[in-house]
Amino acid sequence: MTGRPLVAVINGPGLAHLGAREPDVYGHLTQDDLRKALETRAGQLGLEIELGQYDSEGDLVSAIWALKNRDVASLLINPAAYSHYSIAVLDALRAFDGPVVEIHLSQVFRREEYRRQLVTAEAADAVISGMGFQGYVLALDYIAGLLLVEDEDGRS
Ligand code: DQA
Repeated sequence: MTGRPLVAVINGPGLAHLGAREPDVYGHLTQDDLRKALETRAGQLGLEIELGQYDSEGDLVSAIWALKNRDVASLLINPAAYSHYSIAVLDALRAFDGPVVEIHLSQVFRREEYRRQLVTAEAADAVISGMGFQGYVLALDYIAGLLLVEDEDGRS
C-alpha cells in the first residue's frame, strides 16, 4: 500500500445532528468535532480518514459497497438505528475486505431492549459501545496497531 492507509469512517442516520440530538445520551460535541478529533489522531498515527454520514439505508449500503472498489484499509462504522435490524448493512459489511470496527456512542446494552441486538456486529472484528467520541479515536489506535503488525509481517 502506498501513502498513508485510508480508514473510512461511516456514520448512519441521525448522526449529522450530534450535539443537538439527545445530548444527555450522545453528548454535546458535533460531527465536525468528531471529524477534527479523528483527523488529529489519524495524523499522529500516520493514517488518513474519510468521514461520511448517510441517513437512508440505501445510501449507507451503497457507500459500504463502494469501498470495495477503492484502496481502503479499514472501516469504522456506526450504523446507528440500522445496527439493530439491517441485514442489507450486514451483507455489505461482510463483503468489505479489511478490518471492521462497529462503534456506538452510547452503551447500547444498558438501553432499551431493542437496542441490545446488533445484527450488523456479526460482520465486525471489534465492537465499541459506550465510550462516546473516544470510541472512534480508540478504534483508530486499534487499526493502526493491526496495520503495523501486517507491515512487520510484510503482508501489507
Ligand atoms: C447509536 C445507538 C443506536 O441505538 C441509535 O439508534 C443511534 C446511535 C449510538 O451511537 O449509540 O442512532 O448507534
